[in-house]
Amino acid sequence: MANECLHPSAAALEATPIAPLPRISLQAFCETADLAATLNDAANDRRMERTHVKVNMGGAPAAVEAYRTSPTPNVIVIESSAPRGEMLEQLGALAEFCDAGTKVVVIGRHNDIALYRELMARAVSEYLVQPIGVMEFIAALSQLYNQEAAAPVGRVIAVSGCKGGVGSSCVAHNLAWSIARDLDSATVIVDLDMAFGTTGLDFNQDPPQGIAEAVFSPDRLDANLLDRLLSKCSEKLSILTAPATVERVYDLAETAFDPLIEILRGSTPHIVLDIPHVWTAWSRRLLSTADETLIVASPELASLRNAKSLLDNLRAARRNDPAPRVVLNGVGMPKRPEITIEDFGKGLELEPVAVLPFNAKLFGGASNNGQMIAEVEDGAKIAAIFDDLARLATGRAAVKRERKGFLEPLLAVLKG
Ligand SMILES: Nc1ncnc2c1ncn2[C@@H]1O[C@H](COP(=O)(O)OP(=O)(O)O)[C@@H](O)[C@H]1O
Ligand SMILES: [Mg+2]
Repeated sequence: MANECLHPSAAALEATPIAPLPRISLQAFCETADLAATLNDAANDRRMERTHVKVNMGGAPAAVEAYRTSPTPNVIVIESSAPRGEMLEQLGALAEFCDAGTKVVVIGRHNDIALYRELMARAVSEYLVQPIGVMEFIAALSQLYNQEAAAPVGRVIAVSGCKGGVGSSCVAHNLAWSIARDLDSATVIVDLDMAFGTTGLDFNQDPPQGIAEAVFSPDRLDANLLDRLLSKCSEKLSILTAPATVERVYDLAETAFDPLIEILRGSTPHIVLDIPHVWTAWSRRLLSTADETLIVASPELASLRNAKSLLDNLRAARRNDPAPRVVLNGVGMPKRPEITIEDFGKGLELEPVAVLPFNAKLFGGASNNGQMIAEVEDGAKIAAIFDDLARLATGRAAVKRERKGFLEPLLAVLKG
């Protein structure tokens, strides 16, 4: 029972987005090299990029020594393997030198709910039990700072193609539509294809303003302005459209979209980024830092090669986040020589999470009418694949349909 209280499950950690930590300073005093390594890894995570972290050895005695003469940081992390009585003594000694406002997080060895309560009663902010993982540590800290935040924290899902025209915008839009309708969760699509984006067309909307106003006037950007820039497509789905003109060029800085995404995160549970097939500082940043990254590929050699290099790069950049997932789209295009789904998966050493068949009539018809696949009559089976993808990308359990592997949905569709 104690275990359940003190350790969130891995699944729970993955399903809940972890809000980035504010600009605080944190000093840790470890007893073991293991914990020091975990904390150093945590310090390199994107959610702690604003946090100033210093990891020391020596445990509680070293902390008392250090703060006898110098001010305490926002957070002190103490590793203590001492038994209960000794641990409380150590913390008592530390408390004498703690400045007001400093939070103390204790990492111990004893999974003991009575000790936990006793520490909380003495104003320790959190007690974690070794061994702890990098994400568990970050989640605990993040919670300390975001507990009072009223707004839900948004989950960012980035979608991009590993070749132009493979249908990544189409996947992004249908996925977002499924999240909004079937999971009944407020969702915003952000069209990042400034010059050529099709989100407006795909949803039959032509708003006068959109993402350009958000990106080119960062000083004016706040939640109110952003609300005015969004166009509502349905009860739960809004879009932030691209200007889709070539009147100007868009050489954007690496962090150009950061303020926008930060505001969206504060207000919207699901944010789907429709990222064009480019490799720039900003696109790499968005694909590396999203909570979930989907790469859309077609079953061809160029797609396979590009998917492989993207996966290698993004996996390295996302060490503490889910690895990017691959969606194979447009399988079975008449007369096109294709790599089989099995060979594609083998080449990548990764099974695609969804396989969508080629269907020019269905996809072309939907896009001409400004509709989603699920809104077109004969699209039900493909819509079910988007629903499953929506569950996966939002960290929910898949609907149990009779299926043996990732080929099944495709085969079902091909069989009609
Ligand atoms: N599975 C599919 N079968 C047939 N046509 C498709 C399929 N997926 C996408 N398309 C079509 O391919 C075109 C390019 O799609 P788009 O999503 O704009 O690609 P990207 O964003 O990767 O450049 C669109 O006209 C779309 O309707
Ligand atoms: Mg696109």
